[in-house]
Amino acid sequence: MNLKHLRQEHTLDSQQIAPFTGEGAYHGSTRKRAARSASAPQPVVVEEMRPTTLDAYPLDGSRPIAEFEATFPNLYTVERVLPVPTQEEVRSDGVTLCWCPLEEALEVAGPLTRRVLEAMKELLIGDKRFVYVDSKIQYFEPGDVPVDSQHWHVDGSIVARGPAVEALGHNLLHDMKARLASGVVPPRYLAYQSSDHCATLFATSPVTMTLPELIPNFDGLDAHIRALSPPIVAQPASSIVRTDGLSLHRAQAASGAGWRLWVRCVETDREVLLDSSIIECYGTVFRPSAVTR
Ligand SMILES: [Fe+2]
Repeated sequence: MNLKHLRQEHTLDSQQIAPFTGEGAYHGSTRKRAARSASAPQPVVVEEMRPTTLDAYPLDGSRPIAEFEATFPNLYTVERVLPVPTQEEVRSDGVTLCWCPLEEALEVAGPLTRRVLEAMKELLIGDKRFVYVDSKIQYFEPGDVPVDSQHWHVDGSIVARGPAVEALGHNLLHDMKARLASGVVPPRYLAYQSSDHCATLFATSPVTMTLPELIPNFDGLDAHIRALSPPIVAQPASSIVRTDGLSLHRAQAASGAGWRLWVRCVETDREVLLDSSIIECYGTVFRPSAVTR
């Protein structure tokens, strides 16, 4: 089967629902990965994703994780506002995407998603090697959350695994200093949401804070941002917004019932080749236990 796109009929009965735990990782499992088979191609680490800060840490774990002055510029620009689709247009659009190359996505997408992608294509900067698209069609009851976390975070962080990480007591570390202070151009994003009943929140002005160079999750960063309470906006209905890998944002619970199409396009130097299927459960919504139908 194709791991990058899935056509299916979306109905209230087919909407997958899981309990909200708040523990969902936005970017990859925090569990230790099984060793790659010797025949599997070794992943290429491009400059954009190289954990250069981690290189300064010895393999014996003897150096404690240092802190640095982190500044998030928080790029957030509303590039387009498209006509708001009807609920039926969203529900019946059919195809969802997972790390699908843009040109392939344009071929297989439903009519609404294709219109979004055509607008996004005009907005690409074009300085990265790959353009991938993720999309979801989800039905929310009030209180449902589109992912299993409401933590402030950035997308496309530089994730490190391996002996140096394990020596520091973790299976995974985000190299925040490499992303924020190395001068390497981060991945670029365009994001669309068909409605504003479950809108992503974005920080809209620069935020500076002291942060560990390497973080195992976004718990501490989230607490910092909530304490600082910077200006934020909710993404407008049917808008395409431009952000990058330094843009702080978070999911929030749905304020009302209804369907939502979410599309995100990334320009990145990192080649992504899927080796397992996550697309079937990609549109799951997460429901706090207090919310019942
Ligand atoms: Fe995100």
